[in-house]
Amino acid sequence: MNYTFAQYQESADFIRSKIGTFSPKVAMVLGSGLGFMGDAVEEAVAVSYRDIPHFKVSTAPGHKGQLVFGTLGGQKVAVMQGRMHHYEGYSYEEVSYAVRVLHLLGADTLIVTNAAGCVRTDWKAGDLMLITDHIKMFSESPLRGENLPEFGVRFPDASTVYTPALRDVARAAAGELGITLREGVYFYCYGPQYETPAEVRAARILGGDAVGMSTAPEAIVAGHCGMQVLGFTLCTNMAAGILDQPLSEQEVLDAAEACKDKFSRLVLKCLNK
Ligand code: 6GU
Repeated sequence: MNYTFAQYQESADFIRSKIGTFSPKVAMVLGSGLGFMGDAVEEAVAVSYRDIPHFKVSTAPGHKGQLVFGTLGGQKVAVMQGRMHHYEGYSYEEVSYAVRVLHLLGADTLIVTNAAGCVRTDWKAGDLMLITDHIKMFSESPLRGENLPEFGVRFPDASTVYTPALRDVARAAAGELGITLREGVYFYCYGPQYETPAEVRAARILGGDAVGMSTAPEAIVAGHCGMQVLGFTLCTNMAAGILDQPLSEQEVLDAAEACKDKFSRLVLKCLNK
């Protein structure tokens, strides 16, 4: 199934009927544990995914399923409180649908955040990583199917999906806040099972620094339509096979909760800048 340009426009028109002339500059996708940042948006107007034509709903725990429009960190934002994942049964096109709608509403920048497993043995749970690049070569592209030239070209360059100038902003923000910011490659795995130890070793050999089940599809679609992208990963736990213990979802959520203050201060500072 491929969405038509008219469908994206219908979604955008419906949202415009709720937010009037407000035009977000920065779209944000908040991952596990960071959804609360949507509650800090000022003069907020929330639009539930289930009300928006052609939108899917997020079913993952801790993902509220609404768009929040307003001001955050001095920027006009559209915050996705909850994202769609491929493991929920959605196609990559469905997973990244909202990014194009937010682009039509005026957003020229996308901030993506996620919780992921740490592949690096010299990093530790709780570390924050600036995403410099990603690997998503073992699953299909969100751009598969007929290209919609209204958004971008058939064969988009992917040399700098994660915008270098925004990485500079993130480094400066982390420096000012005294937050240690790792930098690395997000290795996309579609889940929902966590990786096996052999898969984690493979990810490491291939150049991955963290493994996760989100973010890359949205970043690809944003890059395709010319948006700037800034991505952060919270390494909530060591990936499989590094420590002698099984992984649990509760561990991921607990770690995200413990780091949410640090994480949200960094994102807010980036918005300020
Ligand atoms: Cl270890 N793997 C994946 N794919 N996602 C995660 C994770 C691991 N830890 C948190 N999210």
